[in-house]
Amino acid sequence: MQPMTTTIGKIQLKDKVFRPYLSEEIIFSAVAEMAEKMNHELRDKNPLFIVVLNGSFMFASDLLRRISIPCAISFIKLSSYEGTSSSGSVNQLIGLNENVKNRTVVIIEDIVDSGNTIERIYQILHELEVGEVKTATLLFKPDAYKKQFAIDYSGLKIPNDFVVGYGLDYDGFGRNLPSIYVLDSE
Ligand code: IMP
Ligand code: MG
Repeated sequence: MQPMTTTIGKIQLKDKVFRPYLSEEIIFSAVAEMAEKMNHELRDKNPLFIVVLNGSFMFASDLLRRISIPCAISFIKLSSYEGTSSSGSVNQLIGLNENVKNRTVVIIEDIVDSGNTIERIYQILHELEVGEVKTATLLFKPDAYKKQFAIDYSGLKIPNDFVVGYGLDYDGFGRNLPSIYVLDSE
C-alpha cells in the first residue's frame, strides 16, 4: 500500500486527507525572521539550543543553520501525542547529557498546542537549575494554549487545526513534506 497519494494539491496520509496550508516560502521567511531575532537577542548568551524530537528536526535544521552566534546544540525526546488530539499526559525527557546549570537554554519546538510538552521540559530544566529558559516554536496555536509562561519566539500563529508536514506527523506519516498541510474537513 502507498502511504501517500496526491490529488490536486491534496494529500492522503493513511485514512485522512490534508490540503496545502503553509508554503515553503512562508515557512522560509518565518524561520529567517526568527533566526535574525535570536542572533540579535541572544548574542552575548552563549545559548544551548535543545531541539525537541521528532517533530522539530526539519525546523531546527533550517533555523540553526541561520544562527551565527556562538551556541551549543542538543536533542531530546519527550512524546505526549497520539492521533490528532493531545493526550494531556507527558513522559520523561530522554537524551539530555549537557549540564544546563546557570546556562541560557532555548527550547526548539515544532508546534505549541496545549503547552503541556513545553511546560514539562521547562519544569525539568528548572529542577536542573538552568540559568534562563527561552522557548521557540515554529507554529503556535494561541486558542489551544493553556499555560501562562511566554513563548519568546513563535514563527507563525495558526488556528486550532491539525497540521502535518515540515517535521510534523500524523501517526508517523507526513514528516518528510517540505511544506505544511492542514486536515481537510470535507
Ligand atoms: P502540546 O503538549 O499540547 O503543546 O503539544 C505539543 C506536541 O504535540 C508537539 O510537539 C507536536 O508533536 C504535537 N502536536 C500538536 N499539535 C499538532 C498538530 O497539529 N500536528 C501534529 N502534531 C501536533
Ligand atoms: Mg513535538
